[in-house]
Amino acid sequence: MKAPLVKIHRLGFGIKGLDEMLSGGLIEGTVSAIIGAYGTGKTNFAQYFIWEGLKQGQNALYITLEERTSRILNYMENKGWDVSAFLDTSFTIVNLDPSDFNLAINSVKNELPTLIKKTGAHRVVIDPISLFEDLFHDDATRRREMMRFLESIRDLNCTSLLISEADKTNSFISKYNLIEYLSDTVILLKYARGSDSTDVHLAIEVVKMRMSQHSREVKPFEIHQDSVIVYTEATVF
Ligand SMILES: Nc1ncnc2c1ncn2[C@@H]1O[C@H](COP(=O)(O)OP(=O)(O)O)[C@@H](O)[C@H]1O
Ligand SMILES: [Mg+2]
Repeated sequence: MKAPLVKIHRLGFGIKGLDEMLSGGLIEGTVSAIIGAYGTGKTNFAQYFIWEGLKQGQNALYITLEERTSRILNYMENKGWDVSAFLDTSFTIVNLDPSDFNLAINSVKNELPTLIKKTGAHRVVIDPISLFEDLFHDDATRRREMMRFLESIRDLNCTSLLISEADKTNSFISKYNLIEYLSDTVILLKYARGSDSTDVHLAIEVVKMRMSQHSREVKPFEIHQDSVIVYTEATVF
């Protein structure tokens, strides 16, 4: 007799086209990465992920290494979301100051697992993880420490989304070409030029998703004031 299949829970972004590409959403308990050059919409997607969780009554933790807490709140409220109603209860924003790098590295490594437990966070975003990766002095240390770090958050009862800057010369890989190997799911955001080569569009691709079927197609998307639309019926070129 075949063993019964374990029911997989998925966490959507609340962005229809993307959730379709992910067969419903990120798998609960996994670590995912969104990789893209600046301005491709990474922070937007991370915020949708958080907001979708809050709406469903899940606790969320947003670690920001780049922007002040007030700016994050502004961005989210400008989308028409009443996020402040969730602050101090189900929504926690933590701003790590990258100017104090030693503090940041220790905070992320040692205190984040505690913080995830304490806040009961179901969804965790680190934006951007690249600033954390910058802290390590050499590739071997970075790889070892990042592997340990990801294992420590995988052991917790949360689903994590790591936002990663793209490499400067190859926007299809992350800054250190490491996070894509360590993550269970990798979503790539990129600029795509149409055949008329005048307009530049944004495009999204699910490059990898462990334990799941997913779309392998590159789909165009648009960011608007209060929506992100992924055009699953369209092709980029
Ligand atoms: N309110 C908005 N209306 C239309 N486009 C927006 C809006 N907010 C952001 N964008 C688009 O999203 C881009 C930045 O998105 P963001 O998520 O901050 O990117 P990243 O985190 O990858 O740098 C902007 O360059 C702009 O093109
Ligand atoms: Mg950003």
